Amino acid sequence: MKILTLVLTFSSFLAVAQPGIIPGEKHRPQFHFSPKAHWMNDPNGMVYFNGTYHLFFQHYPGGTTWGPMHWGHAASTDLTHWTEQPIALYPDSLGAIFSGSAVIDKNNTAGFGKNAMVAIFTYHNQKIEDAKTGLHQYQGIAYSNDEGKTWIKYKGNPVLPNPGIWDFRDPKVQWFEVSKKWIMTLATKDRVTFYSSPDLKSWTKESDFGAALGAHGGVWECPDLFSLSYKGSRKWVLLVSINPGGPSGGSATQYFIGNFDGKTFVPDNTTTRWVDFGADNYAGVTFSNTGKRRIFMGWMSNWQYANVVPTEKWRSATTIPRELKLLEANGEAYLASMPVKETTELFGPAQEIKQLKVDGSVDLSKLLKMEGGKYCIRLELAKNEDVSLQLTNVSGDKVIVGYDKTTNSYYTDRTNSGDVVFQKDFARKTIAPRFTTGNSLTMKILVDVASVEVFADSGLSVMTNIFFPQQPLDILLLTGKKPLQIKKISYSQLK
Ligand code: FRU
Repeated sequence: MKILTLVLTFSSFLAVAQPGIIPGEKHRPQFHFSPKAHWMNDPNGMVYFNGTYHLFFQHYPGGTTWGPMHWGHAASTDLTHWTEQPIALYPDSLGAIFSGSAVIDKNNTAGFGKNAMVAIFTYHNQKIEDAKTGLHQYQGIAYSNDEGKTWIKYKGNPVLPNPGIWDFRDPKVQWFEVSKKWIMTLATKDRVTFYSSPDLKSWTKESDFGAALGAHGGVWECPDLFSLSYKGSRKWVLLVSINPGGPSGGSATQYFIGNFDGKTFVPDNTTTRWVDFGADNYAGVTFSNTGKRRIFMGWMSNWQYANVVPTEKWRSATTIPRELKLLEANGEAYLASMPVKETTELFGPAQEIKQLKVDGSVDLSKLLKMEGGKYCIRLELAKNEDVSLQLTNVSGDKVIVGYDKTTNSYYTDRTNSGDVVFQKDFARKTIAPRFTTGNSLTMKILVDVASVEVFADSGLSVMTNIFFPQQPLDILLLTGKKPLQIKKISYSQLK
């Protein structure tokens, strides 16, 4: 008992002893959305309307672990400063509210009013699941006529009953102009099923995709379908999250590029491709109603350990919003993601170091003014050579981000990043192949207290990972295997 009191006193002392850190908030991200309190997982119903981005999210307001799901709500006018709003959707007699999407019904096809915001989500009924009929997930809708503040559930729910598929969830809906119909992309166990509807209320099955394609290490979840321009024409991209079975263990999101005609998706290529090679970008989808822009956000965690990460008041955050593009590498199209341009406003003036010769290691923190573990670094090399950036602190916690020439891949190693013992798979190195054949190498790295997002070669190779250090990672060591010429390092501190 005495020892416990001592330990508690010591840890509260530590919490107050770190300047600027509120007790219990040590790992709170500062420029990523995280709920004020309690549990969150997938981003849901992301939609842009009247100058505001709405982010709904899987939320359990009764605790800091996964529980009966609600849709939490946050709003932002710039994608970077989020204000949490009252809970949007509560469980009801049909079930808890699982993941889904939101659209603006401009033509009032559903009869809920012109420009009604309509949420399309999965009901998960625990009682039916306990009865093991396999019919416990079905799709429902709700609408809001006041920009997402208050919601009315549709009386005719469910709009898409379960046909006998255990995993039947996460509807992503869009307007398909050619056939003037809504298209729903739904995860149905080991595949994606497309449905169409004139009014969001009655749905007709169009086709299935993927039972024999892509990665199948786990159940398929949270799909998204959208088009992007590529070499003067439009290509369709299908995102599918899978858990487990990701390239770095546990949860991850794969994608396919191909064509969609309103009924069927035909892939150009059947190799498995990943949106992000880190361990912590899951269930990501894109915003509705953003015109030509495709803005993606994911849940910055992994089902392997999301319920046990060492935060006290809340659990999890979203990734930085990313703009998606198709880029050519090696003669093929790849999905590239980069932080949205709005994120540059978050950071102060760049401190730049040009033409730096590195023979061994350089402590960049001696050359830069760093503080608080919240920054953006851009590293440019004229030639792709082995290079590593060690983000570290006085306690020796470290996250190492680098490029390995022998394997032609980027990596993030959080094996010794602080608290790693809460789950056996957490301490690990994640690896992202390099896709471009270009000689020069660029990495943009965003660090926000407890996360690192690496965007290499214009977003062709991406890795997102979380970590839990004892103090901010404010020491920065740059190391080369051979004597190295760095073209430019640019560092900006969170404003
Ligand atoms: C993905 C997921 C979804 C589901 C939700 C439940 O992380 O499992 O398939 O709708 O989380 O919270």
